[in-house]
Amino acid sequence: MQIEREKIIAAIGGAKSVDAMDDEARAEALEDYLTKELDESPLAKVPTVADLESRIETRAFRRGVGSLFAVGGLSPLGERLSNEPETVRRLPPLPARPTLLDYFELRFAPARHALQSADRALTHNMDEEVVLACLLHDLGQTLIKTDHGWWGAQLFRPYVSERVAFAIQYHQALRFFPDPSVSYEYPEQYNFIFGRDYVPPPYIRAAYEYCRKHKWYISARLITINDLYSFDPDCVVDLSKFTDIIGRHFKQPPEGLGFDDSPSAHMWRAISTPDTPL
Ligand SMILES: [Fe+2]
Ligand SMILES: [Fe+2]
Repeated sequence: MQIEREKIIAAIGGAKSVDAMDDEARAEALEDYLTKELDESPLAKVPTVADLESRIETRAFRRGVGSLFAVGGLSPLGERLSNEPETVRRLPPLPARPTLLDYFELRFAPARHALQSADRALTHNMDEEVVLACLLHDLGQTLIKTDHGWWGAQLFRPYVSERVAFAIQYHQALRFFPDPSVSYEYPEQYNFIFGRDYVPPPYIRAAYEYCRKHKWYISARLITINDLYSFDPDCVVDLSKFTDIIGRHFKQPPEGLGFDDSPSAHMWRAISTPDTPL
């Protein structure tokens, strides 16, 4: 928090009253002021849906923007983080026939959340398709965050098994619905992201109900379980841990991702060259 001397002096009664205080009274007044400031900061209070809607017109971009397309796009809260730069950066070109690993290195990096999720799946001996689904589950957010489960599944479907695509698609809806049988609870963080009084729309509930009865329900559910523990900014996981699994379960097109005429090739090209104006 930035401390502005004059603002504080004014807030605790002006220069005269501050001069009249002894050290203890000043320290107490300062503490009261800082507590009040913290309580009023946007991250201290769990917002309502209406609070979040009232912030829409304070931003130069919409909260659903893909993380590659705007500074501030990285945060699900839709605010530019204090350690983020003011502008987007120039991106290095991809090789002529880019692989998934090239995209990881040059477009998705640092991808900490993806790597931590997959690492947790690996250390809990989950099967290789679940590990891959965890690794890929949120990467659609590079392109667009709104409905990222569906976008992510569409992006990866031509290259992975139908079970992996299913898990990626449905993890989005499952995150809103607790499942005590596997100790999955509604994420506290969602109160900040969606608002404490948020009710998922009917299509999300319908997707959840469909998935709940599906034979691959647990595959999608395991993504949400590994999701919960995977937001540690200091935990760095090396992508090389997953190269064998990618090699076995990701069908890399020889022409390169973006140039194989698959139903999602254009999505890969948009991630590859997001500065193309049209
Ligand atoms: Fe997700
Ligand atoms: Fe996630």
